[in-house]
Amino acid sequence: MTQADGAPTLSPYISEADIQARILELARQIDADYAHDEDIVLVGVLRGSFIFLADLARRMTVPHHVDFIAVSSYGSGTVSSGVVRLVMDLRTDITDKHVIIVEDIVDTGHTVQYLIRTLAARGPASVRTCALLRKLDRKVVDVPVDYLGFDIPDAWVVGYGLDYADRYRTLPYIGVLEWGAEE
Ligand code: IMP
Repeated sequence: MTQADGAPTLSPYISEADIQARILELARQIDADYAHDEDIVLVGVLRGSFIFLADLARRMTVPHHVDFIAVSSYGSGTVSSGVVRLVMDLRTDITDKHVIIVEDIVDTGHTVQYLIRTLAARGPASVRTCALLRKLDRKVVDVPVDYLGFDIPDAWVVGYGLDYADRYRTLPYIGVLEWGAEE
């Protein structure tokens, strides 16, 4: 891809304060919705969601378990192959449990669709989804996002767990990466 040539520029897009405020709202919403449920499992989708999950889990007051799953649908670039592979499975038996899939970003929707299907087949009490970001313009498959942080336009975003070729994950804010026209 031409974008791999030339260094991209990074522009701040969602501030740390705005991210944290929104996460608190999401946690309150989840607390209210699951107030009477036991056996809640937050399933973090590695690797992009690990920071979001850590903050969300610490702001939730309903008791819950945390587990992780890893899938892959991208190479080192920014184009989805559409084929999702399970790279690392859960260690938790989710039978009869309330599962909340915690994803960094919903882009084409393939990953969340795959995860909902895979986890729903294991007999959980329920499966819902929580995503920090969603790119509406990029939707290829329609997937429910029950708890959403922000809708964003079609751009490559990094920071707060999100990467480009494994870089930028530890930025405390979300920024947009742009590649100049020169090739
Ligand atoms: P989907 O299967 O196309 O919805 O892609 C979801 C996955 O693609 C996310 O979990 C991210 O790992 C990755 N992804 C999509 N867009 C971005 C982005 O703008 N920045 C970083 N990762 C992204």
